[in-house]
Amino acid sequence: MTSHIDGCSITTSEGLGNSRAGFHAVHERIAGFHATQCGFCTPGMSVSMFSALLNADKTHPPRAGVSNLTAAEAEKAVSGNLCRCTGYRPLVDACKSFSADVDIEDLGFNTFCKKGLPCYDHASQVCTFPEFLKKELKSLDDDPRKYRWSSPVSISELQSLLGLENGVSVKLVAGNTSTGYYKEEKDKKYDRFVDIRRIPELTAVRRDEKGVELGAAISISKVIEVLREKESVLIFAKIAAHMEKIASRFVRNTGTIGGNIIMAQRKHFPSDLTTILVAARATVKIMSSGSGVQEQYTLEEFLHRPPLEAKSVLLSLTIPFWRPVKNSSTHRADPEHSQMKHSRMDTHLLFETYRAAPRPLGNALAFLNAAFSAEVSLNEAGDGVVVNDCLLAFGAYGTKHAIRAKKVEDFLAGKVISDEVLLEAISLLKDEIVPDKGTSNPGYRSSLAVTFLFEFFGSLTTNSWLNGGCKEPLKPVAMLSSAQQIVENQEYSPVGKGIEKTGAKLQASGEAVYVDDIPSPENCLYGEFIYSTMPLARIKSIGFKENRVPEGVLGIITYKDIPKSGKNVGAKGFFASDLLFAEEVTHCAGQIIAFLVAESQKIADIATKLVVIDYDTEGLEEPILSVEDAVKKSSLFEIPPFLRGKPVGDINKGMSEAEHKILGSKISFGSQYFFYMETQTALAVPDEDNCMLVYSSTQAPEFVQRTIAGCLGVPEHNVRVITRRVGGGFGGKVMKATQAQSELLLEGSRPNTERPTPIEYSLVAAACALGASIMQCPVRTYVNRKTDMITTGGRHPMKITYSVGFKSNGKITALDLEILLDAGLSEDLSPFMPSGIQGAIMKYDWGALSFDVKVCKTNTVSRTSVRAPGDVQGSYIAEAIIEKVASYLSIDVDVIRKVNLHTYESLRLFHSNKAGEPTEYTLPLLWDKLAEFSGFNQRVKVVEEFNALNRWRKRGISRVPAVYGVSMRFTPGRVSVLRDGSIVVEVPGIEIGQGLWTKVKQMVAFSLGLIQCGTTSDELLDKIRVIQADTLSLVQGSITGGSTTSVASSEAARICCDGLVERLLPVHAALVEKTGGPVTWDSLISQAYQQSINMSVSNVYTPDISTGYYLNYGVAASEVEVNILTGETTILRTDIIYDCGKSLNPAVDLGQIEGAFVQGLGFFMLEEYLMNSDGLIVTDSTWTYKIPTVDTIPRQFNVEILNSGHHKNRVLSSKASGEPPLLLAASVHCAVRAAVKEAKKQIQTWSNNNGQGIDLSFDLPVPATMPVVKDFCGLDVVEKYLEWNIHQKKNF
Ligand SMILES: Cc1cc2nc3c(=O)[nH]c(=O)nc-3n(C[C@H](O)[C@H](O)[C@H](O)COP(=O)(O)OP(=O)(O)OC[C@H]3O[C@@H](n4cnc5c(N)ncnc54)[C@H](O)[C@@H]3O)c2cc1C
Ligand code: FES
Repeated sequence: MTSHIDGCSITTSEGLGNSRAGFHAVHERIAGFHATQCGFCTPGMSVSMFSALLNADKTHPPRAGVSNLTAAEAEKAVSGNLCRCTGYRPLVDACKSFSADVDIEDLGFNTFCKKGLPCYDHASQVCTFPEFLKKELKSLDDDPRKYRWSSPVSISELQSLLGLENGVSVKLVAGNTSTGYYKEEKDKKYDRFVDIRRIPELTAVRRDEKGVELGAAISISKVIEVLREKESVLIFAKIAAHMEKIASRFVRNTGTIGGNIIMAQRKHFPSDLTTILVAARATVKIMSSGSGVQEQYTLEEFLHRPPLEAKSVLLSLTIPFWRPVKNSSTHRADPEHSQMKHSRMDTHLLFETYRAAPRPLGNALAFLNAAFSAEVSLNEAGDGVVVNDCLLAFGAYGTKHAIRAKKVEDFLAGKVISDEVLLEAISLLKDEIVPDKGTSNPGYRSSLAVTFLFEFFGSLTTNSWLNGGCKEPLKPVAMLSSAQQIVENQEYSPVGKGIEKTGAKLQASGEAVYVDDIPSPENCLYGEFIYSTMPLARIKSIGFKENRVPEGVLGIITYKDIPKSGKNVGAKGFFASDLLFAEEVTHCAGQIIAFLVAESQKIADIATKLVVIDYDTEGLEEPILSVEDAVKKSSLFEIPPFLRGKPVGDINKGMSEAEHKILGSKISFGSQYFFYMETQTALAVPDEDNCMLVYSSTQAPEFVQRTIAGCLGVPEHNVRVITRRVGGGFGGKVMKATQAQSELLLEGSRPNTERPTPIEYSLVAAACALGASIMQCPVRTYVNRKTDMITTGGRHPMKITYSVGFKSNGKITALDLEILLDAGLSEDLSPFMPSGIQGAIMKYDWGALSFDVKVCKTNTVSRTSVRAPGDVQGSYIAEAIIEKVASYLSIDVDVIRKVNLHTYESLRLFHSNKAGEPTEYTLPLLWDKLAEFSGFNQRVKVVEEFNALNRWRKRGISRVPAVYGVSMRFTPGRVSVLRDGSIVVEVPGIEIGQGLWTKVKQMVAFSLGLIQCGTTSDELLDKIRVIQADTLSLVQGSITGGSTTSVASSEAARICCDGLVERLLPVHAALVEKTGGPVTWDSLISQAYQQSINMSVSNVYTPDISTGYYLNYGVAASEVEVNILTGETTILRTDIIYDCGKSLNPAVDLGQIEGAFVQGLGFFMLEEYLMNSDGLIVTDSTWTYKIPTVDTIPRQFNVEILNSGHHKNRVLSSKASGEPPLLLAASVHCAVRAAVKEAKKQIQTWSNNNGQGIDLSFDLPVPATMPVVKDFCGLDVVEKYLEWNIHQKKNF
């Protein structure tokens, strides 16, 4: 709603600074701290950092060159922003570098250590309303009836606007942030919008002896500020601290308290604000519609009233200073100063708020929130604490409104707090706090209510409150720290240097151009997908609600519209092609049925919601929605023999050698969504002679070209696909085939030039091209997040059954695995998965291994390759088995891991020639080095001590290895030198954030520097530009994926440079002879041009059997702390050592390692990609799908990039880094399991039956979300503890 910003000036990241006027210090720091990868989130990060600086420095000018921003505030500055690539650590460091309380030496790897930090002048930060914009401000005509948008400036004006016409639909608007949650609101048509933010009464703060009255249109941030002014008032300080966890800073800056309360009152929004304000006994003032009468209610009463009418207005909210409810003559409120202590010195007010949510700093709705106040005093005997009165509010747990647990309040009133009383209170509470039917995790939410009640009153049983009372808010301290050990390799300089990522500043300023940034050509139309919501059904008809075609809709394209010469193909693949559109029958929920084309993206998005599809299931079989059902019905995809998992050794012999066996144990995994920040997008522009120009956000332009040509029925040369950069791919914008290729090559069954073609997700571009071809005008789409999440699939869910045999010392002798893989509707690349899974499982020496994978075809959305596909699951399967063996034998799991690590000989047996030379097997070295680097063995003891001393928090520490096989691919390249000496490089690899352009540039500079003219390699760097992929310029582009495209593209470019060097060396020699040298690069090129030497070289890199495949190694140790009352996990520390060979750019590789690890963290700890019973994805937005944020990463995050020396078969001795480190995040999950095990052991000691029924060899599900962890720690852990304590006391 653009009217909402009427009267505002907007400064974008580009407005702060840019390539023309000079970059802002924020941009420079982001680039220098290597804090950008795909760059799609980076302008948002820049603005968040900038606003944090602005806020910090607005009242007191800071010291020259630094900001008043503290390190703790710097961390919070980006806590509301999502980034899928960087892992956040470098972003936080970039922001911290402005703080006066931080030493740059303590920050992460950056380019400033040598040259110093770029200037930061806070005085230039002030953003004023620009003069030129002031001139644009027009005064409104005084007849508001003329406009749909009104901004009254007084209550009376508001009243007259609301009373204008009957039958006119009116929406009051404050911050308008509610449309982020109630997305359907955006599509609703109102006759009139009334912006209430300019009415002084609604933005005023009034203080009197009763309390603070806050206008309803005051932003949450402003309210926090106001409450903080009275920090001595305990309740205010607590409310402000809680409010800082509502949403993110930018929502709090705009969203108002009134908006929040109305959302909760009218629509049952799971509000934090209302819960804490009910506990604070807040009241509200309402102006009724029509009459204008003002009424006052307690907030609690107001919430339970019928939904406020559209034309009624919430005027204000009052938070009272505390007054005892049960007023006795001895209690007298002293509003300003005595929130805690009253006239009787033994009467205290306690107030506390609670919230359990997936993200500690906010930006996630709570599973449950609560706020309690209590007035307590010593009993007559002075040996116990009496609750004189209390108020217990709970909310957001799956009920309509925040409620008070009145039965519990009444029960506790007058009681002396004891374990027995608490246990009875808990029992009453469990009957009162019951989530509504259909709420997720109901048991968990109820248990949180118990937990919070226990936390609040528990300490009163020991009188500890008398020594300091309840907790005061602590001064915030910085959470994160890091250390990196990196070797910058000089041998091939500038290759090996941690130089700044190419284009990083452009990304930070927002100037970097992604597909959707390309201005729409004239007559451009916009499309959106219509997908099935049924798993298996005939499509009888597609129409609109009430048979009314929405205005601006131009058509719905289905398979019937595909030209006769073309085919219904949305992806062309190795095994089979995928359909672009479902035909007569839809085979899964989420399958694309049609493409709606409209005049704007907004119309297209809204119109798809009005589409009605008539389905019919008569005569169709039941859909297959589980792998078990698929197996029963033999619904399986064929796995070609060369892709089937290969057994190693003799499984029967291995089992017979075993002294112990675990048989038929099970593990299962769900899926993970890519969550690239830039969703699928394309722009297709018809050209002359039946040609099509397509801008596509893809990792495989060549395959997009092929698919479009097939769909339109035109030769491939009619289709030009251009991709400059992609805002994150992670496999979702291509389907990876590297593993399969490697197997093919190893088998020698095909020459490596005839590669299997992966299927690629070309559907989006193909639909746009089809639309453009039919409509004969440009068509584009930017798929909305919901549609993207529902239609693109993700990782393969799988179920594993295994039997393992082992000796008493933990040495495993045999492992037999059966894996059921849910491939979804189409084959995609699923038949390649077994080899990925097996490769990762084989990180240990299993003695003998047998392996059976069934690739199940189900009526669910087709699953595809997501970063480290199969490998991440395989690696974890291995850990889960090792953990099981350790539990069985009661041996430390770290010992079992060590016992089963490969020797070089066993590595060779399992991985054949991928194992390389003995010196290349660095895993045992990494394993030992990590123990030293992380102080692992000492910390194991500290963890044990911690667990012995702490009842409600348990720690776990775990170290895991990773082995990851990669393969290099055939890759073309071209390097050309222009007349002015500038160099242009074409490679097929796409810059998806992995630093491909940077590495290629470094390689070209190094290679051309070998001429040794007067211009150094470092100087040459500035002359090189790597350009966008263009399928009609450089052919045979293949895909970007599999961790090796940067290296392969660099090598292709190096080979091209060799050709140029060969041509230039004689020219150089002649010039040196003539001039006596040295000869500059520019004069050398000028001479070459004069001699008409061909200054453009194309060539290809073709790996062979010795250079094509190798194994990568890494080790990580993670330590976690689990709050067993809430299930919350804090990752205290992670240490990683990763073998990068000789890194081509350690800054880039460090980013890959950290980013991959954090994405893995999401898989293991947070991300639930769930389907309903029809197989339709239901976690389809940021509200329900939680990727890691800055507050969920390791607090201490240390990475060492091991320079493992010379590897003759690698490109300049380098090794891949893009995917393998993702596997190391399993260390966090294993550490959580260790902590949960400690919690279970503790419960065992509280149990009357010696812990019978408590399973210590449990499998902790993936992801180990808060509800899962709490469930395993015991939903009734508080009750168990109290019962045990009571029992103990009785027996004493
Ligand atoms: C990403 C995100 C995360 C969030 N997380 C949390 C969270 O963790 N906890 C939490 O408690 N909240 C959370 N919220 C909710 C947030 O606090 C509210 O969106 C915000 O406070 C609403 O204020 P607004 O001014 O934007 O309301 P608007 O969107 O302008 O209005 C909301 C509704 O209230 C009506 N309205 C507004 N003011 C008045 C008034 N004075 N009188 C009558 N009607 C009025 C409007 O007509 C509209 O129907 C989150 C919101 C977002 C977008
Ligand atoms: S760099 Fe943040 S999402 Fe890619």
